[in-house]
Amino acid sequence: APTRYEAETSPAVCTGTIDSNWSGYSGSGFCNGNNATGASAQFTVNAGAAGTATLSVRFANGTTTARPADLIVNGSTVQNVSYEGTGAWDTWVTKTLTVSVRSGSNTIQLNPTTSNGLANIDYIDVDAGGTTPPTGS
Ligand code: GCU
Ligand code: CA
Repeated sequence: APTRYEAETSPAVCTGTIDSNWSGYSGSGFCNGNNATGASAQFTVNAGAAGTATLSVRFANGTTTARPADLIVNGSTVQNVSYEGTGAWDTWVTKTLTVSVRSGSNTIQLNPTTSNGLANIDYIDVDAGGTTPPTGS
């Protein structure tokens, strides 16, 4: 099963505010990034082994303009991802991406590349192969 990393939960960093005014989010809120290039949401993700990880980003974009963001893994930009309009700020969708991770701690940053900033970001779910099983299993 994937591990969920909420945008509002440290060590995640939201360059903006943690808001809860649009319903349907998971946890206690979502990252409303500042409307600016580079106002990112950053997650720290643990992988039990190096390899390919599947990343599901849950977001909402209540505008009709896509909000592209670089996907930056451990400081390297791996792709520019389009976060399209979802119809409303309370309509959340997930986008699935594939990245390479190293064993242990990885930083995953969603870094907007237009002055509109990010879509609102709820969480990322990460399925990293070889994730450390819970103690006792
Ligand atoms: C509105 C909305 C925010 C959103 C913002 C934006 O203010 O309430 O949740 O982040 O638009 O355009 O980025
Ligand atoms: Ca915003």
